[in-house]
Amino acid sequence: MHHELILILDFGSQYTQLIARRVREQGVYCEIVPFHYALEKILEKNPKGVILSGGPNSVYEADAPQVAEDFYAQINAPVLGICYGMQLLAKDLRGAVSPSEKREYGRAKLKILIGETVMFEGLPRSLDVWMSHGDHVTRLPAGFRTTATTGDVITAIENAERRIFGLQFHPEVAHTPLGKEILRNFLFEICRCRGDWTARQFIAEEVEKIRCLVGETDNVVCGLSGGVDSTVAAVLVHEAIGIRQTCVFVNNGLLRSDEYEDTLKLYKEKLHLNVRGVDASHEFYAVLKGIADPELKRKAIGRKFIEVFDAEAKKIGGVKYLVQGTLYPDVIESVSLRGSSVTIKSHHNVGGLPEKMNLKLIEPLRELFKDEVRLIGKDLNIPDEITQRHPFPGPGLAVRILGDITEEKVKLLQKVDRLYIEELRRFKLYTKVWQAFAVLLPIQSVGVMGDFRTYEKTVALRAVTSTDGMTADWARLPHDFLQAISSRITSEIRGVNRVVYDISSKPPSTIEWE
Ligand code: XMP
Repeated sequence: MHHELILILDFGSQYTQLIARRVREQGVYCEIVPFHYALEKILEKNPKGVILSGGPNSVYEADAPQVAEDFYAQINAPVLGICYGMQLLAKDLRGAVSPSEKREYGRAKLKILIGETVMFEGLPRSLDVWMSHGDHVTRLPAGFRTTATTGDVITAIENAERRIFGLQFHPEVAHTPLGKEILRNFLFEICRCRGDWTARQFIAEEVEKIRCLVGETDNVVCGLSGGVDSTVAAVLVHEAIGIRQTCVFVNNGLLRSDEYEDTLKLYKEKLHLNVRGVDASHEFYAVLKGIADPELKRKAIGRKFIEVFDAEAKKIGGVKYLVQGTLYPDVIESVSLRGSSVTIKSHHNVGGLPEKMNLKLIEPLRELFKDEVRLIGKDLNIPDEITQRHPFPGPGLAVRILGDITEEKVKLLQKVDRLYIEELRRFKLYTKVWQAFAVLLPIQSVGVMGDFRTYEKTVALRAVTSTDGMTADWARLPHDFLQAISSRITSEIRGVNRVVYDISSKPPSTIEWE
């Protein structure tokens, strides 16, 4: 079935994915493609509307990203330029753009000049918006009018007849509180979308697709991690082909306390998946012995995982496909305007697996964002304890134990982490943060207990807020909570006499410590 489609041309803004999520939240499917995506391919997709995103460049720079030469002449759908997108279309259509004297960044008051413009229908005459730009439009292209200003800056323009619109501010960010209404006007009034993108429909279509792809006889294998992505992917495939999918859940000995047993039980008893548990903890501890370097740890775990998983899959027989919970942010062809990015951490838990096993991939979530996966999971009756679970890294506690790994250290960290998560839930803070965990530091410090001097370990607690894990801020957890968890840890866990709270954001830190 064909969905209505909004196409976003990405000019490298940090907010591009946010635009996509805001569009989908309104029930309209959208895709992000790089700004240089061929015009014929854009036309082939027959979008109901096209959004030109923001970007870091200035439109008059020599190598500023552009749309195809006859984009405006050929496109047969409304166009909305946001920030850089607006400047670009103003310049392309023979208006003028000039550098601002000062960079406008932050909140601004938008004054709507023309009441009857569809873009601002139903909105007050004055509203808060979020700006972030250095240039602005100083002369309108022929046929355009200014529909809103901030101070004396032209902030919204349109040519309603040609269905071309520009917004200098960002309607997609939370700091533009009525941005959702503005995007809704664009989608439903201007592009005439109906909103045919729902979780239920996605599930029905995806199940049908998987059924057709796999056919009547082939078998499928899926690696479960206990996290939301792999679980939702497995349940979707299970809906399609039932027990011809075998799931493998490996205990690498680096999971949270009791997580292996509890999750395996949930997979079997609540979700009725055809799942095999493989407890390979000691094999992982063996290959990790004496390794302190974070990248070497990650690589050793990745290699071992492939070995264990491959051995298990060989026992199944007739397997042609591997299910993976790849998400949309992993597949968007990223626009690299600032040079190629360096590897900060090697993230891929199962990188190289499909090639090694010579399997074809099934990636039922590759069009979805994380919050959409959670909604789909809810619709599939997957319990909240999975759909609301914090992200957990493939290498598990190994990247939260600084220095070399031993079973004793893992057990100690599991105990601390368990108390921390328990208390977060008790204080109803668990779902308020993106992720929370404890880190075991390779240092000891002096303390006093009763009349005795102690010399024991330090743990760091981390909790962050984030929308996608790419950037994050440390969570402002209440002092009462921090007090409660600190005393529980030091009084209930032998071997820890100091608790610190991590107040670093990402960047410059990362979420995990290794
Ligand atoms: P960092 O530490 O890079 O983490 O700021 C960003 C997000 O990714 C998670 N993470 C991983 N997830 N395999 C994963 O599946 C990994 O190797 C891995 N390393 C980090 C991290 O927990 C955070 O949510």
